[in-house]
Amino acid sequence: MPLLTIAGLPGPPLDVPAGRTVLAAIHAAGHDWWHACGAKGRCTTCRVRVLAGAEFLTPLTAPELRYQAAGRLQEAERLACQCGVKS
Ligand code: FES
Repeated sequence: MPLLTIAGLPGPPLDVPAGRTVLAAIHAAGHDWWHACGAKGRCTTCRVRVLAGAEFLTPLTAPELRYQAAGRLQEAERLACQCGVKS
């Protein structure tokens, strides 16, 4: 199972089953994480900066592309509620 390390979160790397979003994995591990819109891709409060392994994440979703085009999501950032782990 893929492992995900979130800088600043205590504990070991998170197990992320394929198809689960990063936000869901963070919550499943018992951590709190901002998600003001309820994980609907409408707010950007769940954003994460990807430092390594972007190639293992699912493609950008329509909300992420919309925020990138508007300059509200940088190239190395993803919405935790939208991106998942491919492998
Ligand atoms: S929780 Fe609002 S965009 Fe992810």
